[in-house]
Amino acid sequence: MPEPGIRIEGLRKRYGVGDTAVDALKDVNMVVAPGEVVGLIGPSGSGKSTLLKCLGAVIVPTAGRMVLGGRTIYDHGWKIPDLRALRRDSIGFVFQAPYLIPFLDVTDNVALLPMLAGRPDAEARARARELLAALDVGHRAKAQPSELSGGEQQRVSIARALVNRPPVILADEPTAPLDSERALAVVRILNQMATQYHTAIIVVTHDEKIIPTFRRTYHIRDGRTEEEAGQGSSL
Ligand SMILES: Nc1ncnc2c1ncn2[C@@H]1O[C@H](COP(=O)(O)OP(=O)(O)O)[C@@H](O)[C@H]1O
Ligand SMILES: [Mg+2]
Repeated sequence: MPEPGIRIEGLRKRYGVGDTAVDALKDVNMVVAPGEVVGLIGPSGSGKSTLLKCLGAVIVPTAGRMVLGGRTIYDHGWKIPDLRALRRDSIGFVFQAPYLIPFLDVTDNVALLPMLAGRPDAEARARARELLAALDVGHRAKAQPSELSGGEQQRVSIARALVNRPPVILADEPTAPLDSERALAVVRILNQMATQYHTAIIVVTHDEKIIPTFRRTYHIRDGRTEEEAGQGSSL
């Protein structure tokens, strides 16, 4: 069997040292196949953001193993030399707020990452337009972010997360500010993109509107994960 999109084994994260140390992750185990979208659910303070930051190579774990897109990136220490390149090329981030750059038009917001990675401008913009069209915001390609609705801005931020064709997308509460219809539309798009581009996607959420849509969820409580089959209600 080929390595899945994401595999996490025995992941631990301790913040600080001595009496004030906090064991935010005690034993996290997850597997996400390419093309799969899983929900990660847990109460405030359970370790969700810490887990995404470890996976995103934003903070360093204390112990365990992480495999992304078939590459062991961490095994009781980082296993790859260039974490910036890993974040840029292998991981797409979607946040609660779209964080678009206000002085770039929609196309260039999406094209910026491949341009920074050294792709020719024309190629980067063509790829951006293709994704914007796939996300049903192609007609807004020349608009400024401030001219878009919240739902449109969030779709642009998903296009940006996908533009370097990362094997992994990490979404932290991507639907929190959206109404029911828009929230479900975003989840539908994430599922389509996962299927189309074989992306493994983790969605951190406590949004009751979207939790029933996941086929599989992981619950995290006090730094430990438990897997649960979901309803996978049709979108
Ligand atoms: N930088 C930090 N330093 C020390 N403790 C932290 C830090 N970040 C988070 N924590 C602690 O780690 C635990 C998990 O936090 P977090 O991952 O933010 O949870 P969640 O995202 O599920 O709300 C909490 O007890 C939190 O107080
Ligand atoms: Mg959090």
